[in-house]
Amino acid sequence: MTNAEYSPGLEGVIAAPSTVSYLDLEKEEIVVRGYDLIELAQKRSYLETAYLVIHGHLPDERETMAFGERLKEESALPKGAYSVLEALPRQTNAMDALRTGISLLASYESPEVLQDNSTAANLIKGLRIMAKGPVLACNAYHAMKGQPFVPADPKLGFIENVLWMVHGKQPDQESTEALDLIFTCYIEHEMPNSTFAARVIASTLSDIYGAITGAVASLKGPLHGGANEAAAMMLLDILKQGGPSKAEEYIMDMRSRHERVMGFGHRVYMRRYDPRAYLLKDYIPKFTHKKPEGEELYAIYRTVEEVMFRETKLYPNADYPIGFLLYLLDIPIPLFTPLFLCARIPGLVAHVVEQHADNRLFRPRVLYQGPRGLHPA
Ligand code: ACO
Repeated sequence: MTNAEYSPGLEGVIAAPSTVSYLDLEKEEIVVRGYDLIELAQKRSYLETAYLVIHGHLPDERETMAFGERLKEESALPKGAYSVLEALPRQTNAMDALRTGISLLASYESPEVLQDNSTAANLIKGLRIMAKGPVLACNAYHAMKGQPFVPADPKLGFIENVLWMVHGKQPDQESTEALDLIFTCYIEHEMPNSTFAARVIASTLSDIYGAITGAVASLKGPLHGGANEAAAMMLLDILKQGGPSKAEEYIMDMRSRHERVMGFGHRVYMRRYDPRAYLLKDYIPKFTHKKPEGEELYAIYRTVEEVMFRETKLYPNADYPIGFLLYLLDIPIPLFTPLFLCARIPGLVAHVVEQHADNRLFRPRVLYQGPRGLHPA
């Protein structure tokens, strides 16, 4: 293996053929099953887009209804899952609790179904994971806070239920539409680290629960999904340190310490605007009224973006506006990354289905840099 064949971080390496999605940099388009994700986010619901991602075609009205009903039927958690969430130490990170929860769900499948990697079986199990994901995430958070559990309400739609389980009250339409848009923007994004992790695990013919459990661990990292929490916390920290007038100095200080500003930069987009972030930034002013400090935070948000562009030519990625929007929607910060994962489940399911349907084991090599020729005494 030579230097020439080695790409640090596998940058630019094509890991698998796929019909799920593709980042077309020249056309600035996130192609999802042939459609532009941004157009889908503007014109279609999260549920319709999830169906498209998983099944490969946009659903008609009947298919959307049936899909929504199946998700409702599968949303109840096994009792044991609540007991496990309750038994976790209160200091457990919500993303770790979600990882444990998804892993636990595997135990409720019969061994035959669990090990069945056929497309039909994966679609059934994938739908269960999608239905139960937000219930696990929200209730993991409640368990850590010592709050009562809030199961899904079968009368509510998928996104409404997420807000219901977070806040324990009927969500307003404005918030539901905003979360629908955010979930759609997060739904699928070609081959990020978490999707790659899921496919690597699936390639050993391990099951879909294991593959998605691995993806949760990957997405938790601050260089990936964890950036939405870090970005919101930075905006709040700037507010605490003095507000909009302090934003420039705050970022310059971070730069002088060679720290990364979370929510900026992207391996594939590099110095291009992430189309999801470009779409979502225009929604922010509609939601600043939801928090008393919303306008001030928005001024900080804009200054940070300006300074980052001036200093680094880096643009925000999706996690920057989404971290802020989720805060404005009054979602607790520790739930931001777990909800990102929940929104991404359709994408992960589609990739695991694809991997299992046409599998070749992932097994790369190393560029060996250790010693040779040593002998034990
Ligand atoms: N803040 C400051 N500098 C940055 C940032 C950032 N957020 N991102 C990249 N850079 C700089 C690096 O310091 C480096 O500079 P140098 O060449 O002078 O050393 C240069 O840009 C290239 O950075 P790399 O780390 O080589 O680029 P890579 O492709 O590996 O990084 C990554 C991509 C990890 C996403 C990076 O931009 C980053 O750390 N961003 C912050 C974390 C983040 O927002 N993650 C979310 C990703 S999107 C998502 O998950 C939805």
